[in-house]
Amino acid sequence: MRLQLKTWPEVEEYLKKNEGIILPIGATEQHGPIGLIGTDAICAETLAWEVGERANALVAPTLAVGMSEHHMTFPGSMTLRPSILLAVVHDVVLSLARHGFRRFWFLNGHGGNTATLEAAFSEIYADVPHYVDKADNIRCTSISWWETPAAERLSAELFGDQDGDHATASEVSVALAAYPEGVKLDSALPRANPTSAIYTCSDFRRRYPDGRMGSDPTLATAEHGRTIRDAVVSDLAERYVSFMSQE
Ligand code: NI
Repeated sequence: MRLQLKTWPEVEEYLKKNEGIILPIGATEQHGPIGLIGTDAICAETLAWEVGERANALVAPTLAVGMSEHHMTFPGSMTLRPSILLAVVHDVVLSLARHGFRRFWFLNGHGGNTATLEAAFSEIYADVPHYVDKADNIRCTSISWWETPAAERLSAELFGDQDGDHATASEVSVALAAYPEGVKLDSALPRANPTSAIYTCSDFRRRYPDGRMGSDPTLATAEHGRTIRDAVVSDLAERYVSFMSQE
């Protein structure tokens, strides 16, 4: 159930029985030579839409630009500085809280967002009493989809030690399941440099010349993507239901 495909009376009705909402957040950044720029947002939103169906929960519009400073030497990448991303997350949550939403479950598709999300939640808890009644009931959390047991198990089973840490075979597969024509497979990629560190964007490009960190995305297939998506959605739906039932 996507928020932007509802009318306001439908949202008003939803809020009589539900106070939870799923918020997909991703990034718009390079994903190696064969991964789509939108991979992180595509993964987050396609998983979120499925979890929303399973859990009968509304899904907010995708926050498709994240904190991607380290990718800015690769064309097409976009970034929000952490302070701006923090402000966006803060204002999105408070907008929804003013209508009665109280449980905010961010489904994250990009590791670079994690620290800023946590910082945003702290600012939200500090500010929310100024904006809404029953502020004590506000709960925010985020989960990165690749940290689910299903994603970790399938990463090892399908890709062994070649899934890597950026432009992973897993995420390229999930994007490929959503957009089978969108990822151009190349049969010959050199072995990616293993993950070492992330500093400036020019240092990133020196360490990881084609943008990959330890990954072989030529192993990605749409079929693997569907397998990962279906298994991960089950884990995520359980996590959402558990979050909603917490005091
Ligand atoms: Ni990614």
